[in-house]
Amino acid sequence: MPYRTIIEPFRIHSVQAIDLTDRATRQAALERAGYNLFGLRAEEVTIDLLTDSGTGAMSAQQWAGMMLGDESYAGSRSFYRFEDTVQTITGLAEVIPTHQGRAAERILFTTMVSAGDVVPNNTHFDTTRANVEFQGAEARDLVIAAGLDPALLHPFKGNMDVDALVATIEEVGVDRVPLVMVTVTNNSGGGQPVSMANLRAVRAVCDRYGIPFFLDACRFAENSWFIKIREEGYADKTPREIALEMFSLADGCTMSAKKDGMSNIGGFLAMNDPNLALKCRNLLILTEGFPTYGGLAGYDLEAIAQGLNEALEENYLQYRIRSTEYLAEKVSSAGLPIVLPAGGHAVYLDAAALLPHIPASRYPAQALAVELYLDGGVRGVEIGSVMFGKPQPDGSEVPASMELVRLAVPRRTYTQSHIDYVGEVMIDVAERAGEIRGLRITEQAPWLRHFTARFEPV
Ligand code: F0G
Repeated sequence: MPYRTIIEPFRIHSVQAIDLTDRATRQAALERAGYNLFGLRAEEVTIDLLTDSGTGAMSAQQWAGMMLGDESYAGSRSFYRFEDTVQTITGLAEVIPTHQGRAAERILFTTMVSAGDVVPNNTHFDTTRANVEFQGAEARDLVIAAGLDPALLHPFKGNMDVDALVATIEEVGVDRVPLVMVTVTNNSGGGQPVSMANLRAVRAVCDRYGIPFFLDACRFAENSWFIKIREEGYADKTPREIALEMFSLADGCTMSAKKDGMSNIGGFLAMNDPNLALKCRNLLILTEGFPTYGGLAGYDLEAIAQGLNEALEENYLQYRIRSTEYLAEKVSSAGLPIVLPAGGHAVYLDAAALLPHIPASRYPAQALAVELYLDGGVRGVEIGSVMFGKPQPDGSEVPASMELVRLAVPRRTYTQSHIDYVGEVMIDVAERAGEIRGLRITEQAPWLRHFTARFEPV
């Protein structure tokens, strides 16, 4: 077949201007923000790859759906459309809307997890880890060894180490493992997919011990596409069929609709156990809202229902995964160390490899993220020892297992020339990597410190 560019399967319908800042403005912005990119204002950023969460463009069909929003407090038509869509895609019976993914996590963990418990996951996302720890429990990451080696090629680097899962259950005792979670795709581990075979193996372990199994399903559609193109036996299945099979292996899921829900806000908790659902709904009413809106407007429920279906379209997924891979190929062929293969929603630069002169205690990935912003107005996010380092009583820190800068691509938002520009900035910065200096923390919060910490160059 002749080679043709995989094009964006949409055309632009409404545009938003981008501010083109100069270096002096960016330097001043960094000083004001304490070298924390979460402290920047949108107009100070040229290409915003901080996150793919809630930052994508909605389709004309989603906007049209919003006009159909039924704002009834109880029994909204939009809720039933949303519930029906989630049930059809996941096969899960009980559907509980929440304002975003972490609200679903908090409700699930408050209901299921007690102090002293251990919750295994391939790799907990930051809010997931924090919500487990907030219950006094331990969040244990059990990704396969290949998942911790950025340069190693493996089709399913998000897989859980099933032997380590069994060993954990045997070590702590089945009574202290209230649930097992697997994150698809594995965001904190490089946006890497999990294979169906691995999900099946985790299910078998959970069955053996009688432990519920939940998916952190934020990027379930992207994971389905990776299974289709990489796992034997799935090439002829549709992403929808693959997604249904993935969910059929789980007892429930948490979901941020800000990712593969293609919406700017929203999420849900879904499960099969009606008794667990009852407890979760009681908690939902306390903090999120009545079970037929759960902290969302009726029009949000419409946008999510439509978005979930669009996320499973083959043309969209082929473009989506290719557009991330395109950036990865561009920088990787220029010699930059990144997590390989490319993740679904993001390219992850390996700051430990690029900046070997900066020790983990001086936050190489934060320093690199700051430099990408200073050089070209590109905002990424640190996924390293600022996010996951563990401060010790003596003032030292146990570093994170990897020092990564994530450049997350919002869905349907930037064009190929934006991405070419990002690649150029990355390559320019890498050329003078030796000049980049580390950072020290001057202020930090007791948990999720990466959102608000302040730094200064050393
Ligand atoms: N789980 C995963 C795997 C996530 O990536 C996120 C959010 C959440 C849970 C929480 O969902 O934000 O709707 O409350 N990830 C975003 C990110 C913030 O940038 O990766 P939320």
